Amino acid sequence: MKGVICAGGLATRLYPLTYATNKHLLPIYDKPMIYYPIKTLVEAGVDEILIIVSGPHSGHFINVLKNGKEFGIKHLEYAYQENPKGGIADAVALAEDFADKGPITVILGDNTTDANLAKPISEFKDGAMIFVKEVPDPTRFGIVKFNDHKEVIEIIEKPAKPPTNLAVTGVYIYDNRVFEYIKKCSPDFAGRNELEITEVNNRYLKDNKLKWATLDGYWLDCGTFDTLLTANLYWAKKGGYHE
Ligand code: DAU
Repeated sequence: MKGVICAGGLATRLYPLTYATNKHLLPIYDKPMIYYPIKTLVEAGVDEILIIVSGPHSGHFINVLKNGKEFGIKHLEYAYQENPKGGIADAVALAEDFADKGPITVILGDNTTDANLAKPISEFKDGAMIFVKEVPDPTRFGIVKFNDHKEVIEIIEKPAKPPTNLAVTGVYIYDNRVFEYIKKCSPDFAGRNELEITEVNNRYLKDNKLKWATLDGYWLDCGTFDTLLTANLYWAKKGGYHE
């Protein structure tokens, strides 16, 4: 299994912090944010990683991550997303050659978790796997809707009236069909002019190829001032990021 970390975007929600560098290089307690998704992948046995970067500070990643050897990465690649607001699916599309017809685990670069993904990754066969988690602020996320049999029937991106408070976390496992699904996506899907990973997941769902599980552990995205602070406090209390 190969891993992809989406670390593009402009992070305008974090201006003025992100005027000077990329969001994923801001500190979460004692380490840059991007160390966390890297650690999640490497601990799950994923040591070939592609990092998607974009925007004015893309070059900063090399200074911080170098060739990735100190993290236990065997092979580290970078790809540049031309449109920093192209959307997560637009970023993942850049991984097609890297995936080399195989499956990929995708993690959003601003997600920190202490969940261990080794089992779901080693047991993954085909289709798509998403991981959900209860959140207090469901209008900020992709939210799952269930039928009476507890089967997911739809994922709604940032719903005004959320049907549940179960958010789709930024951890996904995909078979190689993901690249075909992305090609069918439209920037109009959620009205944000972005290719949405939620549309990709809905396409898998429509073809009966989407599985879900609860993410087993702490999880927080760090895209706002408040969640950035919460993540800093959580990891500081835990004693920080351990190599
Ligand atoms: O954190 C989980 C949520 O992430 C999901 O519940 C949502 O379904 C999903 O759409 C996403 O929502 P966000 O609004 O939080 O996504 P955001 O635009 O903040 O981007 C998340 C990460 O993806 C961020 O670390 C940067 C990266 N990214 C984003 C965009 C728009 C890219 O690499 N390229 C992009 O074009």
